[in-house]
Amino acid sequence: MTHIRVKDSIRRLHEDYVKRGEEDGKLIRLDRNENAFGHSKNVERALRHTSGALSSYPELYADSLLHKLADIHRISEQNIVAGNGSFELITAISQSYLNPEDEVIIPTPTFDWYKTASLLAHGHIIEVPVENHRISPDKILQAVTAKTKIIWLCNPNNPTGTVLSEVELHRFLEKLSPEILLVLDEAYIDFIRETEPVNSIHIVRTHPNVILLRTFSKVYGLASLRIGYAIGNAAVIEGIRNFKTPVSVNYLAIEAAVASLDDEAFRRSVVRQTAKQLDYLYKEFNQLGLSYIRSNTNFLTVCVGRDSDYVVNELKKRKILVRGGKDFGYPEWLRITVGKEEENQLVVTYLKGILS
Ligand SMILES: Cc1ncc(COP(=O)(O)O)c(C=O)c1O
Repeated sequence: MTHIRVKDSIRRLHEDYVKRGEEDGKLIRLDRNENAFGHSKNVERALRHTSGALSSYPELYADSLLHKLADIHRISEQNIVAGNGSFELITAISQSYLNPEDEVIIPTPTFDWYKTASLLAHGHIIEVPVENHRISPDKILQAVTAKTKIIWLCNPNNPTGTVLSEVELHRFLEKLSPEILLVLDEAYIDFIRETEPVNSIHIVRTHPNVILLRTFSKVYGLASLRIGYAIGNAAVIEGIRNFKTPVSVNYLAIEAAVASLDDEAFRRSVVRQTAKQLDYLYKEFNQLGLSYIRSNTNFLTVCVGRDSDYVVNELKKRKILVRGGKDFGYPEWLRITVGKEEENQLVVTYLKGILS
């Protein structure tokens, strides 16, 4: 028994996180936006030849991955830092750049680690609700004060699946002080389909206050290996690289990420299959009369018109896990990860029964 407890600002958030993590592994998990289509065959080939490598520390900065990414994005390696997934980079950005009481603007609902990481770094959170499920750049600008330090912008947004176009981002940046860090989390960028592809590398080149976050957990299907990267101005990136956990990206993750980047056909096939499955879900949900938010991600957020906890539990009894919207302010909605064809068919069949 001890009275030592985590600080008040994060205690409840932590409990929410743990509660969501402890579910039974035998269920079909459509609650974590994982890739239903696996990973590239190149990854298995690359990981077959690991002998001798595991007793050494990995490359200090995931150098071979940086080299490849610099080539692909036509930027310098100085503009990139790799991390143990975007989670680590979000934490590192908060810790490196937030001073106590700096204001942090977070559209809501959005990916919840921005809030936890900002609170851990003693930031003061200003939440800006979405409008009609879309992040509103104007509302964010209205919330900016002299104390604003970071704006977290998840684009496409989790859990609404909506996207801001490149034109909207440029207009927003024209009005934003260059003293404020804008973090564009592009975990789902490959799945954009409701607007033209967003050339965010160009945005970073022209705006030193913008950081992009990319991950190998989604379209590349490497969630278990924990690897992602940030792109930005060299000095800003150095501030993350110098203070994040040292050597946090392991050898297997680096090898797998590099191998994945060599398999563009796999990436495209995931995008294609996801779009096909989304279209199937749209068609079925239209027939069921359910409204949903057109998605630019590998999940679909749908209104079930009744208490989401009830529907989540009914699906769970049938061995399917989805995310209920209650904890992100959408009490009658579900966020459903796009699964394999047969998994999506099961979801539809079960929902028909549960909602009838
Ligand atoms: C928007 C967003 N950013 C980051 C992450 C976490 O990424 P990683 O697995 O690279 O830590 C997620 C995971 O679901 C996410 O939805």
